[in-house]
Amino acid sequence: MESFMPYLLSLLLLRLSLYLISFVRKKGKNLPPGCNSWLRENLSLNLIGSRFFFQHRMQKYSPAQVFKTSIFGVEAAVFCGAQGNKFLFTNETKLVSAWRTPSLRKALLPAFVANNKKNPVAIFRSYDLAKPDALRQYIPVMDAVVRRLLPERPNSVVKMLPLSNKYSFELAFKLFTDAAVPEVLEKLIEPFGLLVNGMLALPINLPGTTFSRAVKAGQVARAEVMRMVKERRKEMRETGESEGDGEGRDMLSKMLLLSDEDEEYDAMVANFVVGLVVVSYDSTASAITAVVHFLAELPHIYQQVLREQMEIAKSKGPDEPLTWEDMEKMKYSWNVARESLRLLPPAVGGFKEATTDFTYAGYTIPKGYKTYWTPHSSHMNPEYFPEPEKFDPSRFEGSGPPPYTFVPFGGGPRMCAGKDYARVAILVFMHNLVTRFRLEKVIPDEKMVFHATRAVPAHGLPIHLHPHSN
Ligand code: HEM
Repeated sequence: MESFMPYLLSLLLLRLSLYLISFVRKKGKNLPPGCNSWLRENLSLNLIGSRFFFQHRMQKYSPAQVFKTSIFGVEAAVFCGAQGNKFLFTNETKLVSAWRTPSLRKALLPAFVANNKKNPVAIFRSYDLAKPDALRQYIPVMDAVVRRLLPERPNSVVKMLPLSNKYSFELAFKLFTDAAVPEVLEKLIEPFGLLVNGMLALPINLPGTTFSRAVKAGQVARAEVMRMVKERRKEMRETGESEGDGEGRDMLSKMLLLSDEDEEYDAMVANFVVGLVVVSYDSTASAITAVVHFLAELPHIYQQVLREQMEIAKSKGPDEPLTWEDMEKMKYSWNVARESLRLLPPAVGGFKEATTDFTYAGYTIPKGYKTYWTPHSSHMNPEYFPEPEKFDPSRFEGSGPPPYTFVPFGGGPRMCAGKDYARVAILVFMHNLVTRFRLEKVIPDEKMVFHATRAVPAHGLPIHLHPHSN
């Protein structure tokens, strides 16, 4: 017990000083209605899960279009509905700016050094994952990975959550380095999983907490990626890649070519790669799991996806990889994926910080106060999505839902940089799965359970994969 006292005292002191600072700053301001009890709000979020937490608060503080709460250890004003989303997305850099939680910064980006002269982030952006030309080259890679991971024979049982995790984890690494070896990645998936879990945990660095496990896992992940960076530096020296072709063989080489060998710079590249793998793999895996959950549950939806995908399969040779043109034909399948993202959004939302005092819906948001947007505030609203509980991909036909109502990837200048890449990764997976197998849930009434940050299948979604002829 004695060894915990210094931790507890420093935690109490920290909370007390934060409370005093925020009390002084907010004194006399007309903040939105709501509850800022750190304990009550976080307990409730963890007990009932994000979807019901936000829905319950929105009903309680109705008709306010904004309410205050304290989630993931942060007091924030949650902006609701299409109007709230639009306000936050369109005022990025004017009234608010993107803000990351202390847990995320400590676990994920402890040594991140902003250096404008040699910035690996710029290289990533220059790849412009939204462009068909950049995406084209990843389609055969994705196709090969999913073909290898799916069982060769039908009549197998596969747990979809770990399988989609493996798929998207391998893809995330392959985005950076053509040397990603499946066996090495197999060992890395666990620390990365712990890192993802801790990103939004309460920042309590006591032995055994989710946060402290994430901090340790972050160290392991960065050390392992740093080893890959060093190996690549060595190869570049040996092959002369550093001396001249300028282009670099993959994104990792391109980033390293921006600077001579330099411990600080290389650590920044390793850090960046870890960060990007984290933001990309878990949400993509979560999206794929949601899609498979609905496909296995709703045979009429599965049949229409199958029809569309079989048309594409028939137009190709048996081992001919998928192409960008094939992706463009998968319109119904993408509507199914979008409807899955509406009902089970992989990302729970995002914080921004007020860069100046401003007023919203009659309430004051003081400079420095945190704001929050969440897909849960619009995705289940019957005004935008009639019969919101119903799975109905036709909502996305024609011009689709009204602007700022469907926001699984966020919006505005900080919208997900990998959303087109994610679309292709999901469609390639769907194609390979449905053209080869008929799906049957092993646990017929297995539910998707909402946690604080995402929904997961109660038992990992075991699926019986049957051959089509049966
Ligand atoms: C279905 C899968 C995915 C979902 C639902 C998703 C969702 C999101 C969301 C909600 C944000 C925050 C946007 C905001 O704050 O307004 C975000 C940011 C980001 N995502 Fe994704 N994401 C997915 C896949 C990916 C993939 C595959 C990549 C990379 C290949 C990626 C890269 C990024 C990056 C770099 C950012 C930060 C953008 C910035 O701050 O400027 N994401 N994503």
